[in-house]
Amino acid sequence: MADQDWQAYLEAIDQADLTELEALRVEVLGRRGKLTEALRALSQLPPEARRESGQMLNRTKAAIEERLMSRRQTLAESALVQRLAEERVDLTLPGEPIALGHPHPLAMIQERLVSIFVAMGFQVALGPEVEDDWHNFEALNFPKDHPARDMQDSFTLASGGWLLRTHTSPVQIRAMRASAPGPLRIIAPGRVYRRDDDATHASAFHQIEGLVVDHGVSMAHLKATLATFVRELFGSKVAIRFRPSYFPFTEPSAELDVGCLFCGQKGCVLCSETGWLEVLGAGLVHPNVLLAGGYDPEAVTGFAFGLGIERLTMLYYQIPDVRILLQGDLQFLEQF
Ligand code: DAH
Repeated sequence: MADQDWQAYLEAIDQADLTELEALRVEVLGRRGKLTEALRALSQLPPEARRESGQMLNRTKAAIEERLMSRRQTLAESALVQRLAEERVDLTLPGEPIALGHPHPLAMIQERLVSIFVAMGFQVALGPEVEDDWHNFEALNFPKDHPARDMQDSFTLASGGWLLRTHTSPVQIRAMRASAPGPLRIIAPGRVYRRDDDATHASAFHQIEGLVVDHGVSMAHLKATLATFVRELFGSKVAIRFRPSYFPFTEPSAELDVGCLFCGQKGCVLCSETGWLEVLGAGLVHPNVLLAGGYDPEAVTGFAFGLGIERLTMLYYQIPDVRILLQGDLQFLEQF
């Protein structure tokens, strides 16, 4: 093969893409390649011609190998340049914002309520959610078969005598038994359970219990404490009234209402046209409860109160259905 034919290969290599390059290499340098065959044919030549042709072919082989290598390099580099251009990252672009959460409205209200009482000198006390009948009912002056038990339809656990607490009041008993005969001023926030499920009652909800036991604690202390609490929460102008009520663990018992926040006490659906919203239950601790707590009812008196956090949250934010508070729906939660 003449010099210019090898020259044509060199030029073809310079134009080839990766696949063509491999085809050319095989065609020239492969086991049956043109140059390989030509080198093999040298042995048939007379010595003089063999040397001359041999040198020429070896130079050509080196040249082709070198061109193949440099073309491969060029192709690899341009592929890299192209990839870099395609995958270029602009570090000056603003980042994806990270969505920050915030506390749930129930948690915010609970925090608010707790901090109002803590500012008045109350300590936070906690109790178990799985209770026994004695702490949940008996010690709170609900004897077995007492009709007041019907107000708190409970979830009982299969294993002997345990139930999910129906209110935070059993923490009163636990706190008293831990402090008697000393003075006591606690609030107990926590989750409670009842067999209820409708627009205003969930089967799991939250309460805050309050309890003060000391020498000479009276209804006046109770009223002043709760009035301070309500005004801290809803503002100093809100109307308040105490209404006689019944709870087994207090005597006398009362319920606290606030003037309807929605209609300015003119009467609306939210206050059932009464102008008043019921906020909490309270009273002076029944002597039997003081006894169960380890105190001498002749020596000390106490007041107690209990409120529902869901109910207060619904009033505070004007939420019509308690179930929305439990669904974890972001469209709802992001409004707070
Ligand atoms: N435990 C009552 C309930 O769940 C609420 C309550 C009422 C608590 C009066 C009290 C109280 O401490 O004095 O319905």
